Amino acid sequence: MDREQALKIVKEQITDHRYVHTLGVVETAVWLAEKYGADVKKAELAAIFHDYAKFRPKQEMAKIIKEQQMDPRLLSFHSELWHAPVGAYLVRKEAGIEDEEVLDAIRFHTSGRTGMTLLEQVVYLADYIEPGRHFPGVDEVRQMAEEDGLQAAVIQAVKNTIHFLMKKNQPIFPDTFDTYNDLVTNKEEQH
Ligand SMILES: [Fe+2]
Ligand SMILES: [Fe+2]
Repeated sequence: MDREQALKIVKEQITDHRYVHTLGVVETAVWLAEKYGADVKKAELAAIFHDYAKFRPKQEMAKIIKEQQMDPRLLSFHSELWHAPVGAYLVRKEAGIEDEEVLDAIRFHTSGRTGMTLLEQVVYLADYIEPGRHFPGVDEVRQMAEEDGLQAAVIQAVKNTIHFLMKKNQPIFPDTFDTYNDLVTNKEEQH
């Protein structure tokens, strides 16, 4: 599927504000993929579709999580997490994207996971630092993405996310802790 076709499909699913965010994620993911040697076309496609399911009704997402036997723990955590795995499922079903690497980058763009691939890290980080993002700490992560390497920047983004959730007394999905532990433990290796 080419870029224009993919963007057209996504535009119908999300708000204008989210579409502008998506364009920012696409631009950033392409840049990171080029810089760090990930597949640029896959990064572009995953970024285009990453928030595909963002505005699906919660009930529909919960039903898909149950029926498709996704991680049942998702249902006891914030519904903000649901659009990522549900999105991967719907992007395959409704938009016909079959590439497992692209689908995994969509699936894990919010929580991360143990053993994140280069492509998954690119999309995760692009979602965090795209130009439309404005929150404390984002500039530091942008600078790290420029200068310190992909993995260092992803670690900082995960740390910020954990801090942010803890400050708000929000629970933290275990995959997010797993991502942090895994990346910090394997810091020297290139994922
Ligand atoms: Fe998202
Ligand atoms: Fe996003």
